[in-house]
Amino acid sequence: MSEEKTERRGDADRITREYFDGLFLEMRHIDAVEPSTAFALYGETFKTPVMFAALSHLDKVRPGGGTEAAKGVKAAGAVMWYGISERPETEAILATGAKTVKIIKPYADNGAIIREMEHAAEHGALAVGMDIDHQGGSAGNRGSVLGIPMGFKSLADVKALVKATKLPFVLKGVLSEVDARKCVDAGVGGIVVSHHHGLVDYPVPPLSVLPRIVKVVNGLFPIFVDCSVRRGIDVFKALALGATAVSVGRAVMEPLKTGGADGVKTFIEECTADLSWTMAVTAAKDLAHIDSSVVVNANGF
Ligand SMILES: Cc1cc2nc3c(=O)[nH]c(=O)nc-3n(C[C@H](O)[C@H](O)[C@H](O)COP(=O)(O)O)c2cc1C
Repeated sequence: MSEEKTERRGDADRITREYFDGLFLEMRHIDAVEPSTAFALYGETFKTPVMFAALSHLDKVRPGGGTEAAKGVKAAGAVMWYGISERPETEAILATGAKTVKIIKPYADNGAIIREMEHAAEHGALAVGMDIDHQGGSAGNRGSVLGIPMGFKSLADVKALVKATKLPFVLKGVLSEVDARKCVDAGVGGIVVSHHHGLVDYPVPPLSVLPRIVKVVNGLFPIFVDCSVRRGIDVFKALALGATAVSVGRAVMEPLKTGGADGVKTFIEECTADLSWTMAVTAAKDLAHIDSSVVVNANGF
């Protein structure tokens, strides 16, 4: 990210980092035990709730970057996510055996979305979904991605997409209680609370709206979080505020660039170790026992 972007007023990354930095942790030592970070999702079990975010264009980071990342994620026992990709790249990622959530763009043509969901399902995806926050007609000059027109999506569209796949359908880019209620209505299989690294300036930090979204969802489906997560203690804070699991995007790109699959594996393992330590010193024996009351929110919102 350029200097210019990080210093811009309303910069989403700065706002989101500041929110993390305004969350403090009580310590609890009596009755603490060695914690487990084991995590179950969509019928599969994983070693960690630290996930690889729905990135794309990773060939630019390193040749075969998407596939390298998937190998590293699999070796770390984590969940892989991937964003927009040509079919051969999707197939190569899924062929690694990494349990992958494939996120598809909100193409204007719902048929194109359904075809990509079917393709991912045929090749063994764990779940599919759509980053609805990347929608747009001519608004914001974001009418197309890689030459394919984007559309706006109604609740009826989301309901139709949920019905069009047997896999869990995850809506990525939920940043309000209003949309969370619509997701409950649509019967989605999960949501990602995210501003997509700042698709608008001055977004609410995902963790500020998360507890209210958790109340709306009321355990009906998993709630994932991403944006500006850099280390395990950030993951802990998101889990404490109600996330089911947490994705890391830009922070894992440098390890991917320099270390390929091994770099990604090591990064996820280090994040998981940091999470595990934070659980140990807050007396959380497993993910279900992370207690929101250890978090002191000094942000005021
Ligand atoms: C290079 C790059 C490519 C991305 N491509 C996609 C994509 O195709 N689909 C998607 O849903 N999100 C995409 N994202 C957004 C990420 O999934 C994530 O929401 C965002 O980067 C915030 O996480 P972070 O702060 O950990 O990077 C992309 C992000 C980056 C940096």
